[in-house]
Amino acid sequence: MGIAEVALHTMPGAFAAHSPASNLPLGADARRRKRNANLVPNARALPGLLKIPRLRSVRRQCQRIDDLARVTEGNGTWVKDAMNNASQAVGDGRPDQAVGGNGGLNGHTVKPPPQRRKTSSVEDEAWELLQESMAYYCGSPVGTIAANDPNDSDPVNYDQVFIRDFIPSGIAFLLKGEYEIVRNFILYTLQLQVLAVSCYLIFFMLFSFKVRTVPLDGDEDATEEVLDPDFGEAAIGRVAPVDSGLWWIILLRAYGKCSGDLSVQERIDVQTGMKMILKLCLADGFDMFPTLLVTDGSCMIDRRMGIHGHPLEIQALFYSALLCAREMLAQEDGSADLIRALNNRLIALSFHIREYYWLDMQKLNEIYRYKTEEYSYDAVNKFNIYPDQISPWLVEWIPPKGGYFIGNLQPAHMDFRFFSLGNLWSIISSLATTHQSHAILDLIESKWSDLVAEMPLKICYPALENQEWKIITGSDPKNTPWSYHNGGSWPTLLWQLTVACIKMNRPEIAAKAIEVAERRIAADKWPEYYDTKRARFIGKQARLYQTWSIAGFLVAKLLMEKPDAARILWNDEDAEILNALSTNRKRGKKVLKKTYIV
Ligand code: GLC
Repeated sequence: MGIAEVALHTMPGAFAAHSPASNLPLGADARRRKRNANLVPNARALPGLLKIPRLRSVRRQCQRIDDLARVTEGNGTWVKDAMNNASQAVGDGRPDQAVGGNGGLNGHTVKPPPQRRKTSSVEDEAWELLQESMAYYCGSPVGTIAANDPNDSDPVNYDQVFIRDFIPSGIAFLLKGEYEIVRNFILYTLQLQVLAVSCYLIFFMLFSFKVRTVPLDGDEDATEEVLDPDFGEAAIGRVAPVDSGLWWIILLRAYGKCSGDLSVQERIDVQTGMKMILKLCLADGFDMFPTLLVTDGSCMIDRRMGIHGHPLEIQALFYSALLCAREMLAQEDGSADLIRALNNRLIALSFHIREYYWLDMQKLNEIYRYKTEEYSYDAVNKFNIYPDQISPWLVEWIPPKGGYFIGNLQPAHMDFRFFSLGNLWSIISSLATTHQSHAILDLIESKWSDLVAEMPLKICYPALENQEWKIITGSDPKNTPWSYHNGGSWPTLLWQLTVACIKMNRPEIAAKAIEVAERRIAADKWPEYYDTKRARFIGKQARLYQTWSIAGFLVAKLLMEKPDAARILWNDEDAEILNALSTNRKRGKKVLKKTYIV
């Protein structure tokens, strides 16, 4: 029995309890009943590969997440123990603090759903579908499942609540004034996360979870609901969802900004959760760069696609999460070191990305003329990039006006592909300078027929083909050229395009893209993605009624009506970082050289 197993077996099991079948959420529709009918056997296969036992589902008496504080009183000690373990794991130094903050959230009243306006039938349909995709735990909404196609007999794991997929859903609910589901999502996912740390003594990021209704041991007539988490141990390819924790922090800030309820972010358990994520991201490793080092498939592209190393998407989310967390972290003695590390990282990260990931006509020409094998602190070609890496497509494609951040940078390797999410989130988080942000939007405009065409938005451009596809994807039949992650078009990216355009005061670009999507997305049954160079076909293996396609469209529409609301998502350019960067440039980068290659 390994350490993790010992931890699991010694975990307090006091919370196994039941709720009668009649306690199932009121008003559950047929689809939800069908989902809940998939009863799970108690014994689950363990992923032998990792020798980590599967974390048993969270079984506890149905109660509101707010009542957790009460569990820590009396004899129900597991949450307290879990938090204490987690606190110690992050070196919080406050082992005896119980769950619960100064929020006093018990008795929080649930707002009735706001009246829906009759604007566009597509929007109305989207809203209805979004509501149908809601997952309930003990009667409370806790998330939305990834896809909700009634005709799909084999949903694989698309009937689960994915952390990253819930973000546009959560934003849509916030914009509609429905805060409860977001609040529950934040707190329940935190609970699952903390439980994992407590059990395994290692930090895993939560990939997804499922609300399961299982028969109660020894009672034929009763069932109980359990939250069954997946930390990537069941996910296809066993990918590590590094983006989950970063998204969780971004959503937490958006929740506070939109609802005005800061008590969630002030709770001690939530503060500890934030610190857990930050500590993991800021931990020392074998890396030379301030960017976050991850394995392939650790973000929206969750399959082998040659994005291991330092992919842009993770860096932009990392930067955004650091800024969001800094806003929310309680200023106290115990956090001083963490905040110092966070500030240093922000400066180094923004310098590194702005300087070395940036590509435009001028920079490409510099790379084209690079000398190689430069040994020195002052090398111009710091990463020893061989100019022969510049692919013929890029020479043709780079527009005279505009630019973008490349997908990845490693020693002797630049991934020149354009990745939409990373570039858009660089604008949203102000990782890109104002000039770079405009240049990215200029590029999107000038490459409209490549990036938007008949459905926004290409996940990346161009696709890997032939030998490259074979070598880089491992001949992945789902990621064939111009399909899925390999140059497919994803409607969910519409909301991120909209936030970026609103932030840069260029909403007309988003409006054009929304119009393109609106022409066919509902008739096409809200697909997950589209195939072909111009996004003409519904993706070969695309799910229909994909929740984040629906939510992404809704958020884009809602934000166009209320552009100011987009502020809950973006980060303003930070004056201190700007200052540090210009000082750094004047002093010849000596300040940052000490810690990272910058
Ligand atoms: C696909 C996407 C991933 C998403 C999942 C569920 O695997 O690549 O980003 O979370 O589907 O929709």
